[in-house]
Amino acid sequence: MDFKTVVMPARGVSEMTSDGLLVLLSGTASPTGLEQGLQSAIDRVLAQGDLELKAAACAYLGQVTGVKAARVWVAVVADASARAMSRSMARAMTALKASGARRVHVCLPGAVRPAAAQLEALVIAARDAAYVYRHTKPSVQPAGRLEELVLVVPKDELAMASDAARRAVAVADGIELAREWANRPANHCTPTHLAEQMKTLGKSHGLKVEVLERKDVEKLGMGSFLAVAQGSDQPLKFIVARYDGAGKKASPLVLVGKGITFDTGGISLKPAAEMDEMKFDMGGAASVLGTMRAVAALKPRVNVIGIIPACENMPSGRAVKPGDVVTSLSGQTIEILNTDAEGRLILCDALTYAERFKPAAVVDIATLTGACVIALGHHRSGLFSSDDALAGELLSAGDAALDPAWRMPLDEEYDDALKSHFADMGNVGGRAGGAVTAAMFLKRFTKAYPWAHLDIAGTAWRSGANKSATGRPVALLTRWILARAAA
Ligand code: BES
Ligand code: MN
Ligand code: ZN
Repeated sequence: MDFKTVVMPARGVSEMTSDGLLVLLSGTASPTGLEQGLQSAIDRVLAQGDLELKAAACAYLGQVTGVKAARVWVAVVADASARAMSRSMARAMTALKASGARRVHVCLPGAVRPAAAQLEALVIAARDAAYVYRHTKPSVQPAGRLEELVLVVPKDELAMASDAARRAVAVADGIELAREWANRPANHCTPTHLAEQMKTLGKSHGLKVEVLERKDVEKLGMGSFLAVAQGSDQPLKFIVARYDGAGKKASPLVLVGKGITFDTGGISLKPAAEMDEMKFDMGGAASVLGTMRAVAALKPRVNVIGIIPACENMPSGRAVKPGDVVTSLSGQTIEILNTDAEGRLILCDALTYAERFKPAAVVDIATLTGACVIALGHHRSGLFSSDDALAGELLSAGDAALDPAWRMPLDEEYDDALKSHFADMGNVGGRAGGAVTAAMFLKRFTKAYPWAHLDIAGTAWRSGANKSATGRPVALLTRWILARAAA
């Protein structure tokens, strides 16, 4: 679905001919000063109790006398906050998609004027609602007939609104790419497919992409990553993508995404129920793909490197066994007590590899622990960082982008749980504080740079009737990178 911005005609929105008109009402009092036909139609639904003045309330007015658009909807955005704009637009999209409209004008006649961030939230919500997964179900129709939304703004807001829309479309494209790849089943989204997709993105968006194969990874000494990959017949891929937006000397921001294209648990096999959802275990990798796309489209003055260690976690005669000890790229040895704690095993080698770029900061993104889902549920991602400044930046980026995170602890006391009799560390620390001990494991590999870890196990996808990847945290990461570039 495309987005345009246009200037409101002098005689008002009633003059605009189109398939549809969506009026977003801001403020807490009944609207005044609208064009006559529109004003009385809205007054009527309010008086009849068909529309309440609270965020996300929505009503269909049909055809309105004096309004040229074929159909009219009204949705309430209340204080016009980013959150209200997002929720109202998502609600309105249900109605818009169900209609026959192809091109809908969206206008905001209220007294509370949304700024760029609020308009961005609106565009992202609309695009999110328009996404339909079709890769392995091509019979599904795209989102209604809707082809284009046109934001109608006063002349003095046009430059701001167009800029906001441009930024939002880039982020929405990134979110959509992440959702699409995370949604694809593991036989359609193998490590090889992921690597090919990054190469394709590299060609279309000007990224330098390098893919390391098993022999390269062996030569480097990534014993931990290799241990996870060895049980699978799918060849591993170690994907590195670079966006150069600043000079060669500027130290890059590095994103590391967990790319387990399917997590059976390995020899520590998972139970059958809901195991299909472990196709989403490359949600971190998908968010790196999506963020690289958004960044490459927006061209900020900063260098960004995306790293994806990708493989399957499978049981087989060649699979790693509980008790096996491996040597990581860092030289530290690891006793693999539970083969289902595989995410940290592939990430630790990628985190050590990241050192070679002398990064300004490294953020890893991983569907790492069920414990994080228990701790935070599905609303906020878990954020771990021993760098207060970096943690603050990521938290505010998340809040601003409606992609929120919550800071979790990393006290040294938690590290005791990783003690092993046979290696420098074990790969699990017991049930208590499972999200924290997983982060403590990663922390042992990140001494060389400012580092943060996002556990997205609860936020990367939705289960149940609307099972789908969310594309989180592409919005958070993109906003953080843009803020870094602007600083
Ligand atoms: N990919 C899973 C984490 C996960 C589980 C995410 C369920 C979302 C929903 C990860 O590889 C895993 O299996 N973690 C184990 C760690 C444990 C063995 C210490 C877990 O969370 O149970
Ligand atoms: Mn696992
Ligand atoms: Zn996993």
